Amino acid sequence: MSKRQFLVTSGLPYSNNRLHVGHIAGAYLPADIYVRYLRTRGDNVRFICGSDDNGVAALKSAREEGISVEELTAKYNASQQESFKGLGIEFDIYGGTHQPEFVKTHERLSQAFFLKIHDKGYFTKRTTSQLYDTEAKQFLPDRYVKGTCPTCKSDGAHGDQCENCGRSLDQTDLIDPVSTMTGTSPELRETTHWFLRLDQLQQPLADWLRSKKEGAGGVRWRDIVINQSLGRIDAEGLPERAMTRDMSWGIPVPLDDPDAGGKVLYVWFDAPIGYVSFTEELGQRLGEGEDAYKNWWRNPDCKIVNFIGEDNIVFHAITFPAMMLATHDSDNVQGDAGEFQLPHNVVANAFVNFKMPGKDEEKMSKSRGTAIWIEDYLKDYDPDPLRYYLTAIAPEQQRSAFEFDDFIARNNGELLAALGNFVNRTMTFAHKYFDGQVPPAGNREQIDLDQIQACKDVAKRTADALEEYRFKSAQEEMMSLARAGNGYFDNTKPFQTRKTDMEACGRAINVCLQTVRTLTTIMSPFLPNIASKCRDMLSLADSAKKWDTACDTLVDGHSLDKAQYLVQKLDPLELSAK
Ligand code: MF3
Ligand code: ZN
Repeated sequence: MSKRQFLVTSGLPYSNNRLHVGHIAGAYLPADIYVRYLRTRGDNVRFICGSDDNGVAALKSAREEGISVEELTAKYNASQQESFKGLGIEFDIYGGTHQPEFVKTHERLSQAFFLKIHDKGYFTKRTTSQLYDTEAKQFLPDRYVKGTCPTCKSDGAHGDQCENCGRSLDQTDLIDPVSTMTGTSPELRETTHWFLRLDQLQQPLADWLRSKKEGAGGVRWRDIVINQSLGRIDAEGLPERAMTRDMSWGIPVPLDDPDAGGKVLYVWFDAPIGYVSFTEELGQRLGEGEDAYKNWWRNPDCKIVNFIGEDNIVFHAITFPAMMLATHDSDNVQGDAGEFQLPHNVVANAFVNFKMPGKDEEKMSKSRGTAIWIEDYLKDYDPDPLRYYLTAIAPEQQRSAFEFDDFIARNNGELLAALGNFVNRTMTFAHKYFDGQVPPAGNREQIDLDQIQACKDVAKRTADALEEYRFKSAQEEMMSLARAGNGYFDNTKPFQTRKTDMEACGRAINVCLQTVRTLTTIMSPFLPNIASKCRDMLSLADSAKKWDTACDTLVDGHSLDKAQYLVQKLDPLELSAK
């Protein structure tokens, strides 16, 4: 396969909170697996992430924690970086849309983006009435207003949507609105904003999404993404959306217009541009000079892949692409040869809920204590068992649930019993009976040849699944080889032949070691720490990281390094006592 070019992004987490397992399963772990895989293939990849610092969410949290918004976003940016590092999720750069080292570049590119759209005529300036919180002294974003739904009359409808009847709302439609910032009743005030003409971009967007539904560019997008984006366009059409806000925290609106005073870009306008500005910052750090981002964002040979959680679909499949299309002249709105290229794929995962034994599934929530924080997890456990579990329950098609009992059961019953034990018994035999060297392959029989063939088949099927963003099946494929290895071990019975037929025993251990060799490479995207121990045990060179070497033969007499424990048994009692 020739070398390909990819820019992979993970949704920028808001820097007003720590990360929990649901975040990781949604936008970060699958992206990391994908990137690790692409690197084993020798592709040219950049993996971009950083915190989403702007917007009201940060202001609200800063107010609650009694610190400045700068302190708050710096604190959580650092905490997120720790969590990612602990889990082996390795970005090439971790920026932040308002972090001191990033904000200048981010502001420059976001403002240029805004001005380009402005020049091309895709904004309308309009004055509307909005709810204003007189105590917080600010206009209220939709999500910070609650009230009674005008349609179904249920309480607790949000300013953008009623969760009860699902209807999209305008905040001014709410009956008896209340500000969730201060609990006071807001008043209506007039304000002027710039609205993106999504209505004008609807046709090219719908055409593009339909092509992705049909697999343009080689992959069909996930149903969850197509249904929420194309489905929404077909059902409701796209109304204009305000891309500016009345606030002091954010990226100032770059217009020389008295109405722009005191206004910033809408956080969902500047946040995805973070992907671009962090790419730029990385390029500059690597000495690639100003506008380094263009080699990724304006280069038709580069495939952009966005990993996100389900609540981000509309923004990545509609709003951000619409913004990119709006940088084009209106008679050339097709997006493949302009300022920015549209994503090759938007890979979204559903939510992971939390489940306690004997109880119903619940949404992960900070206030209800139903979230498992990565910082807490990492105090007691290794990263790979969590990586394994979150991929095993990956919510690729629908929501799934994190259950402690299931986590332990799969660690002990799958990761340890299948993979750990297979490698362990193979290494033990090689050291105990063959001096820590690969015994002669000898004259292989059918059963041996079949197992060698299984290595090749599984490596191929694992790669195919990864190419298609089917991470859960890819990991299942990989594990099927460990199970096949155990089956082969049981059938060839080296524990008996070592007493009766040393040549047969050596032949079997040779094949087992070849199987461990293949596993070492193909497990590496999923379980990087265990894979690295396996590489050490087999004393493999760094070049063994490449996918194409997965089925290379360990030659007769190759010296092995000492065996190490790969997977720890977890005690259910100990865990539930926590
Ligand atoms: N901060 C958003 C969230 O956590 C995601 C922003 S993704 C970006 O839901 F593309 F806008 F950056
Ligand atoms: Zn309703």
